[in-house]
Amino acid sequence: MRRIGILTAGGDTAALNATIMGAVLRANQLRVEVYGIIKGFSGLLNPQVPHAHLNPLFQALPELSEVRGGTLLGASRDYIDDSDEETIARVAERLHRLQIDGLICVGGDGTLNGMQALSRHLPVVLAPKTIDNDLGLNYLEELHEWSRIDEPSPRGYAYKKRPGREFNLEDMVNFVTPGYATAVYVSALSVQRIRTTAESHRRVAIIEVMGRDCGMIALGTAYGQPDLILIPESPVDPDPLVERVVELLDIQKHAVICISEGIVDVHGQILGSVTASKDPAGNLQYSGAAEALKRLLVDRIGDAFFTSHRRNESADAAIFVRKIGHTQRGGRPVLFDRFYASQLGGKSVELLVDGYHNCLATLQYRDNGFYLDHLDANKLRDRWGVIHARPLSTTFFDPKRFQPSPKGVEYLHSIFTNALGVDDVESIRTIFSTGNLTHSYDSVNVDINRRIRRLAEET
Ligand code: F6P
Repeated sequence: MRRIGILTAGGDTAALNATIMGAVLRANQLRVEVYGIIKGFSGLLNPQVPHAHLNPLFQALPELSEVRGGTLLGASRDYIDDSDEETIARVAERLHRLQIDGLICVGGDGTLNGMQALSRHLPVVLAPKTIDNDLGLNYLEELHEWSRIDEPSPRGYAYKKRPGREFNLEDMVNFVTPGYATAVYVSALSVQRIRTTAESHRRVAIIEVMGRDCGMIALGTAYGQPDLILIPESPVDPDPLVERVVELLDIQKHAVICISEGIVDVHGQILGSVTASKDPAGNLQYSGAAEALKRLLVDRIGDAFFTSHRRNESADAAIFVRKIGHTQRGGRPVLFDRFYASQLGGKSVELLVDGYHNCLATLQYRDNGFYLDHLDANKLRDRWGVIHARPLSTTFFDPKRFQPSPKGVEYLHSIFTNALGVDDVESIRTIFSTGNLTHSYDSVNVDINRRIRRLAEET
């Protein structure tokens, strides 16, 4: 293997550059050239395949920094349609002309699907990333717990999962994914910050975090000590919820609720709204869960409760919503993400060099520590060939207390106890560097643009 390609697909995370750095450093040791494809699969769909040589003379480009969030290669949600043989063949031919012997796709479950098509033409390996932490399985046989609803909708088939079983943390396939720890760090800090203002003004704060159908980010946000956590895997039952909020208002005059964007009601319906996806990988876009929950609380608790408690605000004014949004995905990655992202990047190069194919590098947990492994990508496919997002196991959550269960605490503890490095703490001070006032932002896009090369147009 003399030259490999690498691309970053799907939504970005803070740890993508760290993965690329890990891949480049290992490739340097193995004397393998690394070409970065610009803007994920979209770069491959472009006949000129914009790309940059990331390790000329087997040295990493100076623009590549593992402490910088995002990806110097750019990302997109484009993917390659498995059934479009003509496009796949063209993409394969372009990679062949670039003399790329193997490809690393840094991505999540959507990317794994897009990668499958290419795996028929050249060796491909997935380096995992996603802030949602939903790539993998809670245990290997979890795959067989999915069933397909027979009637397809215009969006295709829907799938349902029967409740999972108890398992050991060591059974988890891909224990945790780079990007998750930084997202949780941001969301937990945000909860702490919003807390004191809700407390001062005697308000109810509903804080929405990302994660699509998986409650992992909300679970981890427990570090910020929200009073209640709502996750998609545990449907919202209004009665106990309202009862608990009223109880909190009586005791502490305010409440902080952290919710996942994909929470559902007892009928399994999304509480917010679902927009037809902009994302060709088929991922839906959720919005409005926090607003929907606010409406529910306003209706159920009512103005009288707030005015009778001598607060001069209506229910509508006393209950406010905040979305943490894309701050969860951006900025400097914390040590945990940097370290394991770069390990997984390096492992992906090794897998290609060792002749592995259509597989993913994984981070596994054993004896209170982590180790690197790999898995055949097909091991994540159900009998219909579908790769599902890993749900947060309900054994990690206590729905009565709206908090992580003891097992959830054990899981989080294994990831976060040493997740922050001294340099992460020190880096906070750079926000008030005088240079920030006198120099404009130095975008990596400007530097990488100068390095981009293109294939001659196909004839
Ligand atoms: O998959 C990562 C993720 O951040 C989800 O948590 C979220 O629903 C989605 O991407 C948002 O996507 P976009 O940035 O394209 O709006």
